[in-house]
Amino acid sequence: MMSILLLLVGIISQSGAILDANYYEKTCPQAENIINQAVRKAAANDPKVPARILRMFFHDCFIRGCDASVLLDSTANNKAEKDGPPNLSLAAFYVIDAAKKNLEESCPRTVSCADVLAIAARDVVVLSGGPKWNVAKGRKDGRISTANDTVNLPAPSFNTTQLIQSFSQRGLSAKDLVALSGGHTLGFSHCSSFESRLRNFSSAHDSDPTLDPQFAAALKSRCPKPNSDRNAGQFLDSTSSVFDNDYYRRIVAGKGVFGSDQSLMADYRTRWIVEAFARDRGLFFWEFAASMVRLGNVGVVEDGEVRTNCRVVN
Ligand code: HEM
Ligand SMILES: *[C@@H]1O[C@H](CO)[C@@H](O)[C@H](O)[C@H]1NC(C)=O
Ligand SMILES: *[C@@H]1O[C@H](CO)[C@@H](O)[C@H](O)[C@H]1NC(C)=O
Ligand SMILES: *[C@@H]1O[C@H](CO)[C@@H](O)[C@H](O)[C@H]1NC(C)=O
Ligand SMILES: *[C@@H]1O[C@H](CO)[C@@H](O)[C@H](O)[C@H]1NC(C)=O
Repeated sequence: MMSILLLLVGIISQSGAILDANYYEKTCPQAENIINQAVRKAAANDPKVPARILRMFFHDCFIRGCDASVLLDSTANNKAEKDGPPNLSLAAFYVIDAAKKNLEESCPRTVSCADVLAIAARDVVVLSGGPKWNVAKGRKDGRISTANDTVNLPAPSFNTTQLIQSFSQRGLSAKDLVALSGGHTLGFSHCSSFESRLRNFSSAHDSDPTLDPQFAAALKSRCPKPNSDRNAGQFLDSTSSVFDNDYYRRIVAGKGVFGSDQSLMADYRTRWIVEAFARDRGLFFWEFAASMVRLGNVGVVEDGEVRTNCRVVN
């Protein structure tokens, strides 16, 4: 019953996309293989790569749409998105560069950087044991990247009302919010992103009362002194390199790392979806794939360019 409801929500809110799964069929049929090879090679050398690429795609799509604005480097008179404040885990740009370099050799000026990132994000999920979906393609690359735009990203301190608003501004539903938050089944967070939950949380509570007390103590020991070790932090899930539904079981148990994760359990609009995903890995996989397709449709640029170097506009 729950599954049928979720499926219906997904179908009804499907947006009319200009993208096409066969977009490069004639112009660059080997595009996805080339990208997949670069992603596999990088992930084999560095287990952090999948989480980083997945986050990079989210960050790209939430700012100016999925237009590869996150890939542009700062210039002498412009500070780019990637140098904006919440960039702690934005890394692994070299993986996109490597894929793009090989693409330019095989099919010059054809495959946009925005499509490279969308395909790479799907590939890292599959590599980590998650679901597979067809990536619709045909995005173009934007020409603007501004550090200040990062204020529009949802913050880890957001509650569900704020998260739903942030997602709905991009045409994404509460179901998309819960499913895509499952991206936190991969990766790591620095202390600065959750430290405010651990000490002096509010006048009534020293630490966030929605945190499981034992988990709060464990987080405190990982971040003993505020702002002391910039590299310290916590894995987002107990199986941080495996794409699974453990993230939701942890939230049900009060072990979400971010206030934003935990708030999904505190709001009636999202709690039932968290519980359904915690119970049913297959349902989560299906809905995550559907929501990634919808994330990949956000603010798609039709009149941009195909960059030859993902770090600079043509
Ligand atoms: C719902 C709103 C979201 C908030 C508030 C949020 C916030 C954050 C924060 C604060 C970090 C840690 C940064 C750090 O300290 O290093 C993080 C990491 C991460 N996020 Fe999210 N995020 C959200 C949604 C998403 C979505 C939709 C995805 C992808 C589908 C995603 C994927 C990731 C991944 C994979 C990491 C780990 C990165 C790494 O280990 O390198 N997040 N997120
Ligand atoms: C993050 O931003 C800081 C300060 O703006 C900058 O020095 C740093 O290079 C950025 N990190 C990445 C990975 O882009
Ligand atoms: C970005 O924000 C800073 C601080 O709020 C401000 O000084 C600067 O003028 C802004 N830059 C742009 C391009 O809006
Ligand atoms: C969510 O946060 C906003 C802004 O801080 C606040 O106004 C609102 O009351 C909060 N909602 C809930 C349900 O806590
Ligand atoms: C908690 O906040 C109060 C008031 O802002 C401050 O005086 C106190 O030093 C803080 N305690 C800790 C442990 O940070």
